[in-house]
This record gives sequence, structure tokens and C-alpha cells, in this order.
Amino acid sequence: MRIITLVAQKGGSGKSTLTFCLAAAAEGEGMRVAILDTDPQRTVFKWGQRRLGEGRQTPLVQACEPHQLAEELKTLLAQGIDLCLIDTPGTHSVGVALAIERTDYCLIPVKPTIADTQAVIETARQLRDRKRPFAFVLSQCSGSTARLNDAAAGLLRHGEVAAANIHHRVDYPDADNAGLGVTEYNPNGAAAKELKLLWAWLHRAIGGHA
Ligand SMILES: Nc1ncnc2c1ncn2[C@@H]1O[C@H](COP(=O)(O)OP(=O)(O)OP(=O)(O)O)[C@@H](O)[C@H]1O
Ligand SMILES: [Mg+2]
Repeated sequence: MRIITLVAQKGGSGKSTLTFCLAAAAEGEGMRVAILDTDPQRTVFKWGQRRLGEGRQTPLVQACEPHQLAEELKTLLAQGIDLCLIDTPGTHSVGVALAIERTDYCLIPVKPTIADTQAVIETARQLRDRKRPFAFVLSQCSGSTARLNDAAAGLLRHGEVAAANIHHRVDYPDADNAGLGVTEYNPNGAAAKELKLLWAWLHRAIGGHA
């Protein structure tokens, strides 16, 4: 079982949205997927409840206190889960540190603004200190390609940047409303296309085959 944690010491960067969208994309490719939501806001857990209301039993979405992580991960492994995504709150806390410790790979969503890119440098430093492999992913992008390239170049000084950018698109909140990932909500849309690219890149990064 591979474990990916979405982490960023910055609220609203897109952690929860990418957690459920990546989970749905991975499941769409036949993986057995689970999500552990360690954020007290329970954004992804509530998405999972809406999804259950639509009769979709998978992926398994559980609310999880950070101190329960080790036990929950053991259970998921025993259940034959291939991929577990962990969502975390946008703060620095002992709980986030616990999630990072148990993870194979971390993804840091970051909006391409100066305030947001500066805020996640500290997140990257902590991951490097703990020897956790990670990458940034540009999230909620809008504006010119030059602006995005500048943001990516700035981040590259602190770590790898995913080879797919996520843009600001209505499909993301609309899919959330519907308890779906963007690849399910609008499979031929631009959001689904970029999300599939991100998943393919991430899958390779964690040692899977495209
Ligand atoms: N690519 C996107 N395009 C448009 N809206 C988006 C996108 N990604 C996220 N959003 C919206 O931005 C808001 C914040 O996103 P999200 O909840 O995923 O961030 P977060 O990092 O989990 O926030 P928090 O730190 O509060 O947990 C939500 O309303 C979400 O629907
Ligand atoms: Mg969140």
C-alpha cells in the first residue's frame, strides 16, 4: 500500500480538493483506494458522506484522529487497499507531523502567488528535514503562462514541482458538491484532463507504472 499525504501550512491551497479528486482518479484506474481525513474541518469526510448518499461506497473515506493513524493504516493494509491518501489541516501541528512520518510521498498544493509560495517553503523544509519525498503542485492557477512559470521556477529552488498544473475551474467545487471527483463529474472536461495528468505523474513518482 502506498501512502500519499496532502500537506501545506496554508489554508485553502487545494489539499482537500486534490485529495478526493486524486482518490477518484486512482479508483477510476482500478486501484483500491482509501482516504483518511485528519482535518477537524472534515472537508473530505463530508464529501465522502455526499458520495455515499449517491450510492457510491468507494473509496472508503474515514475521519481519523492523528493518534489513530498507525492503527488505521494497519487495518487498511490488511483490507488490501492499494493507495491511501491522507488529508491534513492547513496548519503546523503535531497531528500533521504524525501524518508526514507515516507517509511514502507528500504533495504540497500551492497557489501561484508570492504569499502562498513563500508560505509553503517552511512546509518543504520540514519534509526535507524528515527525509520525506515530496513535490509541489501548482493549484487554482489562473493568469498568464509566464506567471505560472515564474512561480514554478521559484518553487524549484526548494523542491520538485509536479509536471501538471491544476487550474482554477468550476468543475472542482461542482464535483465536490456532487460527491464526485472531476474525472467522474465531467470526464471530458479540462479539469478531468489536467487531473489525470497529475495522477499519472504522481503514480510514476510513487513507483507505479503509467
Ligand atoms: N482548482 C480549483 N478551482 C476552483 N476552485 C477550487 C480549486 N481547488 C479548490 N477550490 C476551492 O477552493 C476552496 C479551498 O479548497 P480546499 O478546501 O481544497 O483547500 P484546503 O487546502 O483543503 O483548505 P483548508 O486548509 O481550509 O483545509 C474550496 O472552496 C474549493 O472548492
Ligand atoms: Mg482542507
